[in-house]
Amino acid sequence: MGKIIVGNWKMNVGPLAQVRDWARAISLPSAVEVVLSPSTPFLSTVSAAVEGTNVKVSAQDCSSQPEGAFTGDVSASMLKDVGVSYVIIGHSERRQGHGETSDDVRKKAAQAIKAGLIPIICIGESEQERTQGKAMDVVRKQVMESIPDEATKGKILLAYEPVWAIGSGKTPSADDIRQMHGHILSVAAQRTGLAPERISVLYGGSVKADNAAGIMAVPGVAGVLVGGASLKLEEFNSILRAA
Ligand code: PGA
Repeated sequence: MGKIIVGNWKMNVGPLAQVRDWARAISLPSAVEVVLSPSTPFLSTVSAAVEGTNVKVSAQDCSSQPEGAFTGDVSASMLKDVGVSYVIIGHSERRQGHGETSDDVRKKAAQAIKAGLIPIICIGESEQERTQGKAMDVVRKQVMESIPDEATKGKILLAYEPVWAIGSGKTPSADDIRQMHGHILSVAAQRTGLAPERISVLYGGSVKADNAAGIMAVPGVAGVLVGGASLKLEEFNSILRAA
């Protein structure tokens, strides 16, 4: 299976004209699944700009509710309606900055699946948890609690994003990544009853042009979730070539 490369633009790319130019400037090795994740107001623009290519669009969050009186929230079915295929759920910037728990993540992921989206469920330990030797336990708990029952039927996409690696220029060693991805695969298989080949685990956190090939060569790494380096077109395109 080809690698999946997600460019998480966070709240960095705009205005509209720039978003459109960037979406069109991504060059596409055909065996790679490229996913762009712009801010909510630009989702339909990016969907239109990539129509007819193999680039897919991801939202950065969705509501845990199907519809109703939830001011400011956006439902998964609304995202689906404007051409979105994926949604990032439980990014550490949501877990930390907005107090989202694994319980919230599970409910959001359930809504995403019901609406026909593929949730990218993010998990990962903090620096303190790693130094205290708790990384495996913390991640096990997040995986068990964040995957909804709805995910036990099809396929599942997770992203291992150690919090201390995001935007820091630091990455775990290849050995640490291999060990953690194997752990996540086995916990997710236990949680869902799915065969391991139906579970994909991306790596995210300081992926750059110069480390992408090495990280993607680690067994158990199905692709990468890229933040900062997705904001530099040249660099992002060279990560796609590495895939
Ligand atoms: P980074 O961010 O590539 O800038 O470390 C990754 C992410 O937060 O998804």
